[in-house]
Amino acid sequence: MTAQPSQAFSTSNCNYHMPSNCLMLTYLQQVITQGDQGDFFYVVEKGSFDVYVNPSGALQPGPDGLGKQVGTIQSGGSFGELALMYGSPRAATIISTEAGCTLWALDRITFRRILMDSTFQRRRLYESFLEEVPILSTLTKYERSKIADALDTQKFPAGTTIIKEGDAGEAFYLLESGEAEAFKSGSQNPVRSYKKGDYFGELALLNDAPRAASVVSKTEVKVATLGKDGFQRLLGPVESIMRRTTYDEGVEAVDPLHQG
Ligand code: CMP
Repeated sequence: MTAQPSQAFSTSNCNYHMPSNCLMLTYLQQVITQGDQGDFFYVVEKGSFDVYVNPSGALQPGPDGLGKQVGTIQSGGSFGELALMYGSPRAATIISTEAGCTLWALDRITFRRILMDSTFQRRRLYESFLEEVPILSTLTKYERSKIADALDTQKFPAGTTIIKEGDAGEAFYLLESGEAEAFKSGSQNPVRSYKKGDYFGELALLNDAPRAASVVSKTEVKVATLGKDGFQRLLGPVESIMRRTTYDEGVEAVDPLHQG
């Protein structure tokens, strides 16, 4: 469908639109309705937009039909990519919070042709891997997407000390491929082993403490790293699960939520 931008708002009482896909909105205007099919991707030039998610998967009638407010998107932000990337129904309802908000709308075909492989390259790179990471399984697709946006990949040959006990913690690691082991000083035996989909490096970031063990690659490994800021910003929803993992001195802890 090659709809014109104005059609994006044909059911939402848009009072004004400019050519070139630039749209000006009134107060409390519903730009995207959860459950609908995706048509446009939006970039916010001015103003802000509240994001609501109804757990049923679609906007419902009645005063609570919007569901819970899960975020706000400010100028410079964007929204509406999920439905276009995955062909899924709109995952949230988006409403303008003030009069005079300005949006740029990009139709699905242009979005797929121009933006999908560049702007959202990391998401596409990491999406299937992140779906299989047990610690992230309780997150929504959107939450996993935001993590993917912030990840970097690093490769290490076998025998590399990826994390050194006692160092300050700067990053969190997800093991993409290969195997690694954790060691405490004074012992030759690993206190924990890691395989694809496992994570390490969370303790120093959670507790603002020095690294509690060294992590060494057993084979050649590929790790996806998330910096401290990204960890704090994006992994809040799974923090309590991570904190539940117990690390006995020298004994590998058994935690079904951790080792998948
Ligand atoms: P899409 O599903 O196409 O339409 C609704 C958009 O809301 C979605 O893409 C995301 O861009 C955006 N969004 C912002 N916050 C969330 C959230 N917490 N859950 C789902 N979508 C969100």
